[in-house]
Order: sequence, then C-alpha cells, then structure tokens
Amino acid sequence: MKEESSRTISFTLNGEPKTAAAERSWTLLYLLRDVLGLTGTKYGCGTGDCGSCRVLIDGEPKPSCIIPAFKAEGCSIVTIEGIEQAGRLSIIQQSFIDAGAVQCGFCTPGMIITGTALLASTVHPTEQEIRNAFSKNLCRCTGYVNIVKAVELASQRIRKIQEESEFLSEVRNEA
Ligand code: FES
Ligand code: FES
Repeated sequence: MKEESSRTISFTLNGEPKTAAAERSWTLLYLLRDVLGLTGTKYGCGTGDCGSCRVLIDGEPKPSCIIPAFKAEGCSIVTIEGIEQAGRLSIIQQSFIDAGAVQCGFCTPGMIITGTALLASTVHPTEQEIRNAFSKNLCRCTGYVNIVKAVELASQRIRKIQEESEFLSEVRNEA
C-alpha cells in the first residue's frame, strides 16, 4: 500500500493543543521553525550531532533536525519558547545569563532544553552528570566552564526555593 505523502497531525506544543498539516519529507525542526514560526530552535548541523535543534519530546531532549514531523503525532513538545514561566525567564535561563554562559547564543536554546530536562530528573547533579548531559550539545564559544556553572547555579537556586517552601510549610503546620 502506498504511504501518504501528507497528513494532519495533532500534538501538544508548549502546553497548547496543536493541529498542523505536514509532509512526509519534513523534519520536526522544519515544521516548528518554517511552518509554525517558532524560530528559537536553531538549525546547526542537520545530522543530529550539535544539539542546537533540541526540543523536549515527552520530557526528553531530542534533536528535531532528524525526527520526522509525522512523529510528533500525539506527543507533548516543548520548544525554547515554552520554557519561560508566566512570562518570565525560567530559573535555568536566568542562570545562564548570570553565569555568563551565553556568548553568540546560537547553541543556547538547545543548551537550555538539555539543562531543563537534566534538572527535571536530577535536581542536584554532579559536575560529571552535567558534563555527560551536555555531551551532545556543541558550543563553539564558551568552552563549557560557564555552562556547567550556570546549571550549578540553577540547581542551587532550585534548592533554595525548595528549602524556603519546606520551611513555610513547617511554619504553617505549627501554627
Ligand atoms: S541541527 Fe540538529 S543536532 Fe545539529
Ligand atoms: S554561545 Fe556561541 S555557540 Fe555557544
């Protein structure tokens, strides 16, 4: 049986339901950038090696340049545009700025996607865990030292928020 060359796909994009017509030949990156206008995700190598096109697919960081658009069907996809929280930069985005981990910025969306996934699964990663997580994100500018620092800073900030929240909850329970 001949496979269809185009189809309508339905998925969740940055928390909202989305339906889009897609061609079999399209990558997910093409759908996101060129069809849906979400240009925060970057095209680097096109071969799955540099990490600049990473998006979260069902919570996992994946290279959208080598994933067919058809594969988005039924998935939850988060791009860099969906990482902000209530119109403000997320903790990891702000930490990248504060730690000086952004230079030309081309790799940064993919880095933020990877860092977000890492901190969602491991809130307080070791330096080695951070370096392992970023092993498929290439940066030509920063040398990675400040990227590691940025993730550590974000981790410390998350820990502080958790501790404050636990403290407040103890105070409430004692009241
Ligand atoms: S552009 Fe997708 S991994 Fe490089
Ligand atoms: S900041 Fe330029 S490639 Fe990473």
